[in-house]
Amino acid sequence: MTVITEIADLKRIYRRRVPKMFFDYAESGSWTEQTFRENSSDFEDIRLRQRIAVDMDNRTTAAQMIGQDVAMPVALAPVGLLGMQSADGEIKAAKAAEAFGVPFTLSTMSICSIEDVAEHTTQPFWFQVYTLKDDDFMGRLMQRAKDAQCSALVITVDLQILGQRHKDLKNGLSAPPKLTPASLANMMTKVPWGLEMLGTKRRFFGNIVGHASGVTDPSSLSSWTAEAFDPSLDWDRIKQLMDMWGGKVILKGILDVEDAEKAAELGADAIMVSNHGGRQLDGALSSIKMLEPIVQAVGHKTEVWLDSGIRSGQDVLKAMALGAKGTMIGRSYVYGLGAKGEAGVTDALRVIQKELDLSMALCGKRNIADVDRNILLVPDDFQGRYR
Ligand code: GLV
Repeated sequence: MTVITEIADLKRIYRRRVPKMFFDYAESGSWTEQTFRENSSDFEDIRLRQRIAVDMDNRTTAAQMIGQDVAMPVALAPVGLLGMQSADGEIKAAKAAEAFGVPFTLSTMSICSIEDVAEHTTQPFWFQVYTLKDDDFMGRLMQRAKDAQCSALVITVDLQILGQRHKDLKNGLSAPPKLTPASLANMMTKVPWGLEMLGTKRRFFGNIVGHASGVTDPSSLSSWTAEAFDPSLDWDRIKQLMDMWGGKVILKGILDVEDAEKAAELGADAIMVSNHGGRQLDGALSSIKMLEPIVQAVGHKTEVWLDSGIRSGQDVLKAMALGAKGTMIGRSYVYGLGAKGEAGVTDALRVIQKELDLSMALCGKRNIADVDRNILLVPDDFQGRYR
């Protein structure tokens, strides 16, 4: 039994356990994957200042995100297809997040439905929507999320069209998986995963199949997805969606100061500095590089959060020190889910919290609220080489 001490341990087990198609789905970035790689490697360019002889007793990683108490400033990001990484994956991830005291965000492209997750949890979770053309469907989705007591809406604003990931096309990604000779041969080597999947009835996109018009069976889904996103998205439409929801809103997918200013003007409760985990515009700067200029521009008006690239508590600490008020992790918990189900998500959260706590202490801080830019050593040209 591997002792889990870092996120990489979970990734190794995950890779062995889950069919290649779903591992590749999680692990890919768009095109050359430059932005995907730099999201993580740019964190390494930022160094921490070691401090000594500071009282490190009585520490806490507790914080608040949009007014909600959290055990650490880390929420689970919306990730599609969790129920293909592990049977009933969304329910497992939501339960792990709830027990740990961090928010879980359910993706529209989930396998378990909003109602499924609500039924198996006791605390409100967050719900994510894409900006879709079909107003009726969006309205119904939002109503279902309200009925399920979801306490915030995450609107993904960087996916009006889809970036290309080579592996998904080559693998013929689908849910449930299409049975080709290659996928079948690969799945035969994933027996525990297969048995788990046979034991659940949740194998389709639970928020969509039977809910979106024209999608009554899973085979009509790919054409729906291709047509559903709204390529003509503009700020008026974003405002309209925020008003349709009427509650707390996080705008996810902002990577530019001008866009951040616009988002803050609209009154978003938080904006997420994100390049969609390097899955959209390959060649864009990493999220961590864009964080500080965005915080400087709008941090006094709205909470600025960061996702894309976080694989450790040190990464969370660096983002908080650069001015983020919260972070989201995606792949880091998906590795855990695929590796060990609910217990693996808990492992991922435990690993990150421990790293965050110890690193914060070794920088001479006892609370997240005390973490500031002073704990960092950032290269002079970290952001400024790009104009
Ligand atoms: C969808 O949001 C994806 O990144 O696959």
